[in-house]
Amino acid sequence: MAGKQTFTMIKPDAVGKNAIGPILKIINEAGFVVKAMKYTQLTKAKAGAFYTVHNGKPFYEGLVEFMSSGPIVAIILEKENAVEDFRELIGATNPENAAPGTIRNLFATNVQMNAVHGSDSDENAIIESDFFFSKTERF
Ligand code: RTP
Ligand code: MG
Repeated sequence: MAGKQTFTMIKPDAVGKNAIGPILKIINEAGFVVKAMKYTQLTKAKAGAFYTVHNGKPFYEGLVEFMSSGPIVAIILEKENAVEDFRELIGATNPENAAPGTIRNLFATNVQMNAVHGSDSDENAIIESDFFFSKTERF
């Protein structure tokens, strides 16, 4: 059965474009409820650990630099079929391929600076939520 929660980050490029509010509006209007939220900046070590699955890929170093370059908003979201529906809402990794109206289509800069993160499975949604939030920070 599909899980009810997913994890997202509003990435440094979108924060730098002053787009936190517009992105949260789209997320809320799509039916997602905020269960936890934190405005913070990742160190290089933390960004590297979060994206450790990509360690060794050609884009890994650049991704770690980018994700630690400015503040991010970390959020746990709840909705039926959360992981799949959220991936649809954000669009393809490369904004050139992201469907019109998706968050990446609207706010991404390029394939690296692509505005938002979205968990790719229920299992990773749990791991990623636990990376940022304790039990008492969830509502
Ligand atoms: P995310 O994990 O951030 O939600 O993105 P995703 O699943 O759509 O894409 P993934 O393959 O997991 O890649 C993670 C992030 O790495 C950066 N990236 N850069 N330069 C490149 O070719 C490249 N490819 C990926 C992006 O920031 C991507 O979201
Ligand atoms: Mg991914």
